[in-house]
Amino acid sequence: MMAMPSNESIDVESIKKDFPIFKIRMAGKPLVYLDSAATSQKPQQVIDSIVKYYSEYNANIHRGIYEIAERATEEYTNSKAKLAKLIGAKGIENIVYVRNTTEAINLVAISWGNANVNKGDHILISDMEHHSNIVPWQLLERRKGAVLDYIKLDSGNERLDMESFKENLEKDPKIVAITHASNVLGTINDVKYITREAKKHGAVVLIDGAQSAPHMPVDVGSIGCDFFALSGHKMLGPTGIGALYGTEEILDSMEPLFGGGDMISAVTRQTYSWNSLPWKFEAGTSNIEGGIAFGAAIDYLNNVGMERIHRHEAELTRYALESLEGIKNIEVYGPKKEDIAVKSGVISFGIKGVHPHDVAQIFNSEGIAIRAGHHCAMPLVTEVLNKGAVSRMSFYLYNSREDIDKAVAAIGKVKKIFKIKE
Ligand SMILES: Cc1ncc(COP(=O)(O)O)c(C=O)c1O
Repeated sequence: MMAMPSNESIDVESIKKDFPIFKIRMAGKPLVYLDSAATSQKPQQVIDSIVKYYSEYNANIHRGIYEIAERATEEYTNSKAKLAKLIGAKGIENIVYVRNTTEAINLVAISWGNANVNKGDHILISDMEHHSNIVPWQLLERRKGAVLDYIKLDSGNERLDMESFKENLEKDPKIVAITHASNVLGTINDVKYITREAKKHGAVVLIDGAQSAPHMPVDVGSIGCDFFALSGHKMLGPTGIGALYGTEEILDSMEPLFGGGDMISAVTRQTYSWNSLPWKFEAGTSNIEGGIAFGAAIDYLNNVGMERIHRHEAELTRYALESLEGIKNIEVYGPKKEDIAVKSGVISFGIKGVHPHDVAQIFNSEGIAIRAGHHCAMPLVTEVLNKGAVSRMSFYLYNSREDIDKAVAAIGKVKKIFKIKE
């Protein structure tokens, strides 16, 4: 695929040709994929990069001094350099490869948390977090006898309540861990402001970037956070590869979670010394194919352009919100179209009187993939929104207005089957 000029809109039809999945049919219909918040589809370029590695230069990294081993090491390392550039990190020393966002956050909660959080210390998260940014802190809270606090949402349950944030900051939390974009509400949080305020109180800041890094330009330097976590599989890459960004200062201060090969520089019978960053956190043989294919995914994203992807999704989201506005007996959660600047391409909704699982099933019969459930954000869905489950559609660069029209038609079908008033 050729790089596109940045001001042009996305040509969805040509993008779709790069994704072989769109040749399949689901329930006998062309696939409409509206579940990219769960995982993204993969372009042929990413799939090919895996085949190429195994068929042309399969070898372990950081070990062999023969040609194909050096090539494998170079491609894997290059992938980190590409990611560093994509998110505005200084270099590969800031990029630790892990399996996913969940592992990245757990690494911080265990390695940094065990050394820095003590009995009675406060940990601050929010009411719109994914379980991956809740449970690691609950575990730390229990290990250490710390106190886990939650920033409340505003009265409309759309955004973080900044008064609640400020009140909680007065407790001088040791760490503030916040999602950049909510996987249920689609709210984009002002993480730059949050980081600045948290730093005034001496807190370390972790940003959960699982739903932002795939969809918008990210600059960790300008955010000023200490940690940033993301998953490759949500940004066109394969499963099993994700990253923890950390500043050199903080990563240097931390102990690795695992010991073994690749993470040491020397071992004697009595002791060991760590390898340099970022390798000290990567024990044993890495997910080499995953790292290399993640590099191919980043190339693809760069060719399209993150700014353009973000704009495309914002346009789709506005169109979807406008289309839903006219429909009776439907409830849409999160920021509305007037607040498109703080809304990502994630729309959760409910149809009154119909269980979200039934909604998803009827969508499936139309070839449309959406997700229904608590979206791994149970405190938000069940305790704040007071729902057992919600339906969610989420967009990416391969979605079009036509996909949204089909989703709206599917809602019509749901209402007809369940005899809900028009
Ligand atoms: C906001 C957020 N954080 C964390 C995660 C966890 O990502 P993973 O399952 O790739 O670890 C997700 C996944 O949906 C998410 O949406």
